[in-house]
Amino acid sequence: MTTVEAAIAYVQRLFHDDSGGHDAAHTLRVYRNALEIASLEPGCDREIVALAALMHDADDHKLFDTKDNANARSFLMENGVPPDRIERVVTAVNAVSFSRNRGKRPETIEGKIVQDADRLDAIGAVGIARTFAYGGEHGRSLDASIRHFHEKLLLLKDEMNTRAGREMAQARHQYLADFLAEYEKETAGGEW
Ligand code: NI
Repeated sequence: MTTVEAAIAYVQRLFHDDSGGHDAAHTLRVYRNALEIASLEPGCDREIVALAALMHDADDHKLFDTKDNANARSFLMENGVPPDRIERVVTAVNAVSFSRNRGKRPETIEGKIVQDADRLDAIGAVGIARTFAYGGEHGRSLDASIRHFHEKLLLLKDEMNTRAGREMAQARHQYLADFLAEYEKETAGGEW
């Protein structure tokens, strides 16, 4: 088994009972998005991209009570990844988080790719599904979820780091914009 295959099995175990936006399925979609972007970015290290995508939520503070990327680090160490490569994965992972890095772009190409891959999963059809699933879980009204599209998700297409990521974001953004237009049409005049 390659390290990447082991990482896939690891995240499936790690997230097995989480639902809402952050689960194994999200991580695997981010991994696939990241590989697609990486295939168009000749300067990146694809194994670092793959491992960082797979580990990007492994120490998410909303889900796990770990410090200093402990889950990612122990997985990588146990699988014989050399220390300098572990640091590269962790650096990329830590550059992805939206809340921790408000306004700051990742410095490495691998971080840029994984951040784009994670953002792609927040828009398009899957972004719509995740937003309402999260909203339902947290007792938010439909209108509150709609506001989240306008305040955050519609801005993402202009915040992509890579050219491939930007191109992939276009179609998903359009899908989101069309959905919102239709939603507004169907709810117009609905206030009593
Ligand atoms: Ni994520």
